[in-house]
Amino acid sequence: MDDRHTAADAVRAGLTAARKSLPPFLFYDAEGSRLFDRITELPEYYLTRAEHDIFAAHGDAMVAAAAARAGGPLTVLELGAGSATKTEVLLRALVRRQGRTRFVPADVSPEAVDAAAMRLACTAPELDVRPCVGTHRDAFAMARALDGPVLVLFIGSSIGNYDDGPATELLAEMRGVAGDRGAVLLGTDLRKPLDVLLPAYDDAAGVTAAFNKNVLARINGELGGRFDLDAFRHVALWNDEASSVEMHLESLCAQRVRIDALEMDVAFEAGERIHTESSHKYDDARVARLLEGAGLARLAVYRDDAERFAVHLAGAASTAR
Ligand code: TRP
Repeated sequence: MDDRHTAADAVRAGLTAARKSLPPFLFYDAEGSRLFDRITELPEYYLTRAEHDIFAAHGDAMVAAAAARAGGPLTVLELGAGSATKTEVLLRALVRRQGRTRFVPADVSPEAVDAAAMRLACTAPELDVRPCVGTHRDAFAMARALDGPVLVLFIGSSIGNYDDGPATELLAEMRGVAGDRGAVLLGTDLRKPLDVLLPAYDDAAGVTAAFNKNVLARINGELGGRFDLDAFRHVALWNDEASSVEMHLESLCAQRVRIDALEMDVAFEAGERIHTESSHKYDDARVARLLEGAGLARLAVYRDDAERFAVHLAGAASTAR
C-alpha cells in the first residue's frame, strides 16, 4: 500500500467535508509516535498507568485463563503496539507458562515497531518477535497465515477511538483471527468525572496539543501543506451523548490554507474546527453490547483499584465456557 496516497486521499476527503475531520491514523508518524509515548508518561494521562497496574496485578491470571482455553501455545498479536512497553508484563507471564512465544507487534509506525522488536530481543530473548508494519487489515492477514490459536491484544482503550458500529466490526475480525481457541484482550477506559477526564486530553505541559497539531505538521511535510501551527489551537471537549472526549483543532482566524500536493486551498472560518479524534468512555453495559455484537463472550474483567480502567478477556461465543 502506498502510504502517501492513502494519507492524501484521507486528507482530501476530511478537509472537503462539511464538518472537517482528519483520521486518527495520521497521528502516528515517527514524531507522533514519540509524542504519544510522552503522553503516556504525563501525570494527567492516567490510562497507561492504570492499565499497567492491571497487567501487573492480574497478568498471570489473564494468561492462565487464555492458555486454559487454548490447549496449545498461543501466539500474541498486538494491534497498535507502538513501543509495546505495557505488553512486556503479559508476554513474560506467557513465556513463564508456555516457553518460547511468538509475538506479532503491529503498528503503522515502522520506527515504533522496530524499537519494540529491538528492545524485546534484548530483554526477552524467549520471544519470537515477528513485527508487522501496516494497518489492522495487514496485521489480520499476517496472523491468519500463522497456525494455532491467537491472543489478540487491543489495549490502551484504542477501541474508544471507534464509534460502536466500526468497533463491533473490528472486534468481530479479532474473534475470527483469534480462532475458536484463542482470545481477545480488550482495554477500555471508564466513564469518570470531567475534572479527571479532560486534563488527560489537555495536559498542562502542552504535549497533547503538540501531538494533535503534529497532524498539521505532517500534512505540511508530506503533502506540501502551508498550515501555520500557531493559527490553530488544540481543543478537548466532552460529548455527553456519545460519552466521548473529542479532540479538535480550532482555527483562530478566518484563513485559507494551501496544500500543494492536493492542488487545493482549504478555507476556515474563525473558530471552525477540524475533528481529529474521539475517545469513547465506557460503562460495563456498553462493553458487553460491543462484545456480544461481535460474537464474543466475556470470560473475565479486571479493573485497577481506583476503577479507572477495565481490561476484558473474551473468547468466541460458541466455545466460551
Ligand atoms: N487511544 C488514545 C486515547 O484515546 C489516543 C490519544 C491519547 C489521543 N491522547 C490523545 C488521540 C490526544 C488524539 C489526541 O486515549
